[in-house]
Amino acid sequence: MTKLSLTTADAAGLKAEALIVGVHSSDEGPLLTDEPTPLSPWPAIARAAALAGISGAVGEVATLPGGDAVNADRLVLVGLGEPAKLTAERVRRAAGVAARAVAGLGTVATTLSGIDLTAAAEGMMLGGYHFGAYRDSKKPAVKSVKLVVPSAAKAAKDELRRAVITAEAVELARDLINTAPNDLPPAAFADRARAAAETAGLTVQVLDEKALAKGGYGGILAVGSGSNRPPRLVRISYRPSRPRASVALVGKGITFDSGGISLKAGPGMDHMTSDMSGAACVVATVIAAAALQLPLAVTATVPLAENLPSGSSYRPGDVLTHYAPKGRRGITSHVLNTDAEGRLVLADAIVRACEDGPDYLLETATLTGAQVAALGERTMGVMGTEELRDRVAELARECGEGGWAMPLPEDLRDGLDSYLADLQNISSGKGGGMLVAGHYLAQFVADGVQWAHLDVAGPAFNTGTTYGYTTQGGTGVPVRTLLATLQDMADR
Ligand code: BES
Ligand code: MN
Ligand code: ZN
Repeated sequence: MTKLSLTTADAAGLKAEALIVGVHSSDEGPLLTDEPTPLSPWPAIARAAALAGISGAVGEVATLPGGDAVNADRLVLVGLGEPAKLTAERVRRAAGVAARAVAGLGTVATTLSGIDLTAAAEGMMLGGYHFGAYRDSKKPAVKSVKLVVPSAAKAAKDELRRAVITAEAVELARDLINTAPNDLPPAAFADRARAAAETAGLTVQVLDEKALAKGGYGGILAVGSGSNRPPRLVRISYRPSRPRASVALVGKGITFDSGGISLKAGPGMDHMTSDMSGAACVVATVIAAAALQLPLAVTATVPLAENLPSGSSYRPGDVLTHYAPKGRRGITSHVLNTDAEGRLVLADAIVRACEDGPDYLLETATLTGAQVAALGERTMGVMGTEELRDRVAELARECGEGGWAMPLPEDLRDGLDSYLADLQNISSGKGGGMLVAGHYLAQFVADGVQWAHLDVAGPAFNTGTTYGYTTQGGTGVPVRTLLATLQDMADR
């Protein structure tokens, strides 16, 4: 893993195997960023960029010999696009592209950190990410990056520390998502989550299939019934001494989703290895919240099950009873489609999470193909109580994960009425699948809890090629949105 450090040294004079510099595009050709100072070699670098045919467009990268302009062995130029359109996300993506250009090297330096330290740090770490369990990377991630900053005082050190914790959380989520489903049944996921959380000093509780039966977790048990690798419920708690608010995190943990008896079509079914992304992201988030020492009580509740067809599977037509606090009758669901399984396990988990009386509930899931149809693969749909929903959607965009607030139109609720049970798990009506799923979940959220539901069916998993700092496979979305939301709650 890449080690990051700060330096206030003159960038041009730094001894390193490469110096990474951002280049803007303009009508007059490539433009060097004017941050941080030493402007002296910049004209020479600009000339080199022009000669190399670099325009400064987003995504562009070129490696030139260091030459006279800089002391580093190589000069790596990365495109930042038009100066007027510069955002933190463009810096983060440029850093991600650069991280791959310098893979295999030992020590490099960059001035991207002079523009935005957090973005440069996160981009360098995440762009160089490789999941090594099944295949060695062709070139290992660069060993260390010196981030050139105007001041390395406490504020900058704190900012770097937060960026590293954030990137490590994203990497933990990616590692879990990228682990193949044969290697990550519910019990194995629970073990990995427990180990990571206990190392971070957090309290962990794992309910196995017997405890789930005793507790009446009908949704989790039904979804897990077709697999001979039984379900789990994991709870991880972080409790600082004087919390300003309490937050429940819930994440969908289907370790593989075949659809069950309502079997999915063959092509692309392998992507359902990512159906535990919500679970991976909330586990990573509660661990990061503790590392950041956020003044919030945070508990992650993670329902884990494998959705497979077999002689013991639950079936269309079944009625199941969800978890309820002691002495209360659980809400019943009429299962019309075993492939709408995420909401069934989430229902149990949401009720359990709300039993603690949290102020906020942040819940995320790779819940619906309708999310991908509506918003594409890079923009999550955010539903829930209005204020929190809008805040989360805005924070998602700010941190570069992409999000949009979605309504829960009243008429769509009626399609979930069942003749037999309290609810049916798919709508009798047409369209709005992402919103229908949101409505279904809303039935289980306790009154007075501010709630946001993040549907990341598209954004959680990159089925295309690497871009920016987003590698193939698990992306770790929405870890950064969740952390930004927790930080925002802590700051209020
Ligand atoms: N895990 C899927 C949703 C999904 C689809 C995630 C594509 C990532 C990419 C979910 O369990 C599912 O199968 N949803 C169904 C719901 C339907 C049966 C109401 C869907 O979206 O088709
Ligand atoms: Mn499904
Ligand atoms: Zn699913």
